[in-house]
Amino acid sequence: MSDIESLIQQSLADIAAATSPDLLESLRVALLGKSGTVTAQLKALGTLPPDQRKAAGEAINRARDTLGAALATRKAELDAAALDVRLATESIDVTLPGRNAARGGIHPVSSTLARIVDIFARLGYELSDGPEIEDDWHNFEALNFPPHHPARAMHDTFYFEDGRLLRTHTSGVQVRYMQDLLARGGQPPLRMIAAGKVYRSDSDQTHTPMFHQVEGLLVDEHANFADLKGTLAEFVRAFFERDFAMRFRPSYFPFTEPSAEVDIAWQQPDGSMRWLEVLGCGMVHPSVLRNIGIDPERYTGFAFGLGVERFAMLRHGVDDLRSFFDNDVRFLRQFA
Ligand code: DAH
Repeated sequence: MSDIESLIQQSLADIAAATSPDLLESLRVALLGKSGTVTAQLKALGTLPPDQRKAAGEAINRARDTLGAALATRKAELDAAALDVRLATESIDVTLPGRNAARGGIHPVSSTLARIVDIFARLGYELSDGPEIEDDWHNFEALNFPPHHPARAMHDTFYFEDGRLLRTHTSGVQVRYMQDLLARGGQPPLRMIAAGKVYRSDSDQTHTPMFHQVEGLLVDEHANFADLKGTLAEFVRAFFERDFAMRFRPSYFPFTEPSAEVDIAWQQPDGSMRWLEVLGCGMVHPSVLRNIGIDPERYTGFAFGLGVERFAMLRHGVDDLRSFFDNDVRFLRQFA
């Protein structure tokens, strides 16, 4: 038997006798690795006399293929055996509770906002929106706050160098909505609702520099204060799923006349009753309609604005507004 034949026979016997993947791997390295026996013989081909090279080369290549195949077969056998052992010894307890992926939830401010919008959608209000970076005209002037008007003092906010600002309320969306309607050739009647973030330079237990408002506007011939009261009473009842005593307390907003703040009779934990302010509202000021190009002799309207966090706090019994924005999952998880 030639040298190469005996190498093949011996190696096949070694491969068949290998009992672990590690042993098999060291055999592979010793035979076919960079400095393995077979590789060394291939390298040495050049030193043979030219007439022997072809036959020797074929024999070595055959040896490499035979051994390579034997190694692969043995490896598959060993892997299969290892798997059989695992299958026989390891078992899965299908009665153990599963490992659930952590599930997110809707933020209480978002779900409150969606609830409010949904109620007004059922009353026929169209959802609209406007930019959070607003210009002075939409946020103030068109709403009857001239420059230096004292009512601006309650709306201190964050200004850009070009005079734009982070909107202090969603009331500017009233203006944008009416402008768009006219630009499209439309006229009242109209019913719109807007919801989103607003900004004020304020921070304490009941104020955060960013919070959410919902704004509503209805303009029609003969819209009156009784319609406003009925609409808000219906909304409050739908939102809290309860009847409340409500009071409309005279107030002031530049863009409504008359204006009111709405209080609801809120039962305290000790059983006593307290008036809680929940909304601002009023009849749209004729100047606002005129600023936009709607005839105030023909049309009247009412508007209202509310703080979403306030409604979320009342609904869920939360006593610190800031906890909505601390992002403590122990708090947020309660609403998921
Ligand atoms: N924009 C007012 C604010 O942020 C809230 C408000 C009051 C909106 C009366 C209205 C309204 O539409 O009629 O304080």
